[in-house]
Amino acid sequence: MASNLVSVIGGRPAEGAPAGMVSSPNPSRLADVVAEVALADAATFAAACAVAKRAQRSWADVPAPVRGRAAGAIGRIVEANKESLARLVTRELGKPYPEALGEVQEIIDTCDFFLGEGRRLYGQTVPSEMPDKQLFTFRVPVGAVAVLTAGNFPVAVPSWYLIPALVAGNTVVWKPAEYAAASAMALFELIQAAGLPDGVLNIVFAEGQEAFGGLELGLQAGTIDKIGFTGSTAVGARIGELAGRHLQSPCLELGGKNPMVVTPSADIELAVQGALFSGFGTAGQRCTSLGTLIVHESVHDEFLARLTAAVSSAAIGDPAQDVLYGPMLAQKFADRFEEYLGWIQPHHKVLGSSGTGKISGASPRAGFIGNPEEGIFYHPTIVDGVRPGDALFREETFGPLVSVTTYAGLDDAIELANAPGYGLSSCIYTNDPREVFRFRRGISAGMVSVNNSTSGAEAHLPFGGNGKSGNGSRQSGVWVLDQFTRWQAMNWDYSGHLQKAQMDVAELTADLDFRLGA
Ligand code: UN1
Repeated sequence: MASNLVSVIGGRPAEGAPAGMVSSPNPSRLADVVAEVALADAATFAAACAVAKRAQRSWADVPAPVRGRAAGAIGRIVEANKESLARLVTRELGKPYPEALGEVQEIIDTCDFFLGEGRRLYGQTVPSEMPDKQLFTFRVPVGAVAVLTAGNFPVAVPSWYLIPALVAGNTVVWKPAEYAAASAMALFELIQAAGLPDGVLNIVFAEGQEAFGGLELGLQAGTIDKIGFTGSTAVGARIGELAGRHLQSPCLELGGKNPMVVTPSADIELAVQGALFSGFGTAGQRCTSLGTLIVHESVHDEFLARLTAAVSSAAIGDPAQDVLYGPMLAQKFADRFEEYLGWIQPHHKVLGSSGTGKISGASPRAGFIGNPEEGIFYHPTIVDGVRPGDALFREETFGPLVSVTTYAGLDDAIELANAPGYGLSSCIYTNDPREVFRFRRGISAGMVSVNNSTSGAEAHLPFGGNGKSGNGSRQSGVWVLDQFTRWQAMNWDYSGHLQKAQMDVAELTADLDFRLGA
């Protein structure tokens, strides 16, 4: 049965659907509508920002350890609802159930981390250069934060913003992806159950253009102090431009063209397993998904043969069953994936399945689990012989497609890995320790795995990218606090007279010409 969802602003359900209705179907069984969603317009989004801004002062007055305990409570509440939230993620986004459980665990891990952080929002005491004067630093919340998230990680990635932002004393307007509305509403309700005051966390369902308009209005009105955005590079660039006009620096988590380098000393089977998981898990729709395999020419044939065998025999289909991957997240991702398939050229060799494109009665896949006609399922596609000039080499291809190219020397591999200009995740498979640090030093990515795939970041290491993958902002762990707090410096002079920095500073007399005797 479909649930009817509306935005919740200041603790109250929003009335009407100023920007119309949209439904969120189950992508593995389109006839199963998960939610009917009332969409807000730009003005409603901006009104939510004003509510968040008004609620921020008193939320910041709640002691940080108490806010941290709210994160702890959210973690326990999510844990108690782990299976039902994961089932909903599987139903609404088509993520295989074990991966959906992992996604929910990532929220719990984030909450566990920030429970302690509420007691550790440390500032420093710093010595002054003058007597009877003391210096301090304080972390202060940024203010009201607008968070716009994608639906490929419909609950884990939002928690990377929401939990630290709230613990640090900010209030939030969250706009989830509309095709992930039911999962988002479930997370919103679980967070609310921790007893947050009204207006501290608000959820607004809106389509991209209206939300963008709402950001413009909120920034003009001074009711948005920070934007967090996970999504495409193109939209991230527009948000960066808009925020920059208001002298703000958004937290951007954008696309990736994540390379995997397979060296001559690699454990080939391990690399094949890594490529299978990161290339095709979540149907290749993670921002950490494997983009291009850069394989040493001496191991290319063996590696490709083994990967092709693994991909060809992998189970695809109903995400509630034991499959490598399920459907595309939503129809719009299938439409875009069709465009990427159009980039395959005559010099490429296509492997991995009995066809390319949509899996159907006319284009079946052996061993498919379930009925492909009921949902939006795509063949896995390996494209060998990709060259640096190809669109398939340069651009992110969100979906179950992996490109393969070869290299001769490690420096060439690093150059190929950096060439597309993204810089989110990367990995190298090698048993030569000298290659590990050469690769780490040369790669432009924010994240580097060694003998592990491009996916699978843990919730307490900095997550984020460079270049077309982001503006250098980092989420997770203590590092995300730099997104949601600002340093305030305080000096306190208790000498009772004016002491001027740099000028009234005592000096010791040093003999800089002093030398040891011969
Ligand atoms: C994303 O794709 O936006 O490292 C996040 C991973 C997951 C998070 C991915 N833990 O693949």
